Amino acid sequence: MLGPTLLRASRNERLRGVIERNRLTRRVVTRFVAGEDRDAVLAVVHRLQSRDMTTSVDFLGEDVSDLAGARRVRDQYLSLLDRLREAGDAGRSEVSVKLSAVGQSIPKDGHEIALGHAHQIAAAAAAAGCRMTLDMEDHTTVDSTLAIGDELRHEFPLTGNVLQANLRRTAGDLAHLAGTGARVRLVKGAYREPESVAYQRKHEVDAAYRQGLQQLMASTCYPMVATHDPAMIRAARDAAQRYGKGLDEWEIQMLYGISAGLQAQLAGSGHAIRVYIPYGTDWYGYFMRRLAERPANVAFFLRALARG
Ligand code: FDA
Repeated sequence: MLGPTLLRASRNERLRGVIERNRLTRRVVTRFVAGEDRDAVLAVVHRLQSRDMTTSVDFLGEDVSDLAGARRVRDQYLSLLDRLREAGDAGRSEVSVKLSAVGQSIPKDGHEIALGHAHQIAAAAAAAGCRMTLDMEDHTTVDSTLAIGDELRHEFPLTGNVLQANLRRTAGDLAHLAGTGARVRLVKGAYREPESVAYQRKHEVDAAYRQGLQQLMASTCYPMVATHDPAMIRAARDAAQRYGKGLDEWEIQMLYGISAGLQAQLAGSGHAIRVYIPYGTDWYGYFMRRLAERPANVAFFLRALARG
């Protein structure tokens, strides 16, 4: 029950204020977030790339509801891409963009505004030799996000989309992308969704993830297997072997601060592994989703608060 409660809390503005203001929370947040500014995230990018991993950088933010705010997020990505290029780290990096942070949730014209901003980021990424993937948010955004991915791929074929195994529609979305050669990140799904659109039980989501892996490995897409679950990684390896995908034809992705030992072990055994690294001050929603994924994180959080 704790998981759904935390996911509800992740969109509670009053609680956000209380948690964000708590000085001690910040110490726990640093387990999952590289830092508040570009210098901090660039240092982590460089460190991980020197350990044979690739990276994906996320400027934290979501549900931006005004044009000025959406432009500010776009500008953050443009500056980040400049810095990645100057540091020589763009080629082994990706930027991950939440469309709700660049305008998608603005009433009426949100889709077009997000498309325009994502186009500018994709152009800057291509110029820097960097990739871009559009994160997937709750189910109400899926049609718009997939359509923006399709549109951008005409000009920027390395634009990636994310599909969530918990959504009942995902098998159909995978079939739609199967012949496109798109970069596709498969995740279990981090949002609280109604039963009408999403599997609710862990075993159902895991079964859908395995099914998604089969579809993805059989397709012309570049599979990005985003999970910390060793059983899913084994299933991905088996599916890759079955469909003749070599180690350089797919990758594993994990989040910064989670299963770091497994990340290093996989990188050491020749797997392509990409670490997703968030930075910025707007960490509340991201942090609450990470707590919701694993109740033990809540205990860790409470112990840190109690220690002061
Ligand atoms: P599962 O939740 O079953 O966990 C398996 C094991 O991993 C756990 O037993 C534990 O050991 C470890 N683990 C998992 N989460 C942990 C945590 N928070 N803290 C500590 N240990 C943890 N979602 C989405 O809806 N849209 C998106 O765009 C993305 N993008 C994305 C990118 C990348 C690179 C990753 C890895 C994940 C996402 N996600 C996402 C999140 C995803 O949907 C999912 O919520 C998490 O990855 C947790 O699911 P697992 O597959 O790890 O399995």
